[in-house]
Amino acid sequence: MLNDLLARNRAWSDQRQAQEPDYFTRLAALQAPEFFWIGCSDSRVPANVVAGLDPGEVFVHRNVANLVHSSDMNLLSALEFAVDALSVREIIVCGHYGCGGVKAATEDLPHGLADHWLEPIRRLARAYAVDLGRERDLEAQRDRLAELNVAEGVRRVCETPILQKAWARGADIRVHGLIYGLKDGRLRDLDCSIGPGHFQNRQLPQEAQE
Ligand code: CO
Repeated sequence: MLNDLLARNRAWSDQRQAQEPDYFTRLAALQAPEFFWIGCSDSRVPANVVAGLDPGEVFVHRNVANLVHSSDMNLLSALEFAVDALSVREIIVCGHYGCGGVKAATEDLPHGLADHWLEPIRRLARAYAVDLGRERDLEAQRDRLAELNVAEGVRRVCETPILQKAWARGADIRVHGLIYGLKDGRLRDLDCSIGPGHFQNRQLPQEAQE
């Protein structure tokens, strides 16, 4: 299995170099992606592939059910690097229909550590219980919950001091919520984008006002 993988890598690398001889030297010298992607770990939703982007074009963080925990040092470190060092312009929180993490959060079964990780989705399910109850079946409820989880993730990214400070210094960064359909390979815009100015009437941290 591993030998197959290494052979595929050699074929890919040769093909790339044949198409563009300085491809790897160029990428090795600089990464300047426009996008930061926060997505699900699901093997069927690889950021570069579904967004049609080449290596070097998207900085990626993935975890189970594309959750934005405001104390997740892994995500926050990647977000800070994307915003402060790479100066990305677009941040995408991308969920997907048929998400196993969302499904686990709606089951009355113990899943060990995952139950702690997925707690924000359980909280959303409780908060939107009436709304979700209008969906035709359990699958539709879970898909709606996956959308709500993306919108919540967008809000949480925007509330981080990282984004607040970037906007306060005039950075033009937009945060978007997308959802991917496993059944048709399409990305849909959930129309919950937030950009500079959205928070301008809010009390900014002291440091940002100076
Ligand atoms: Co998933």
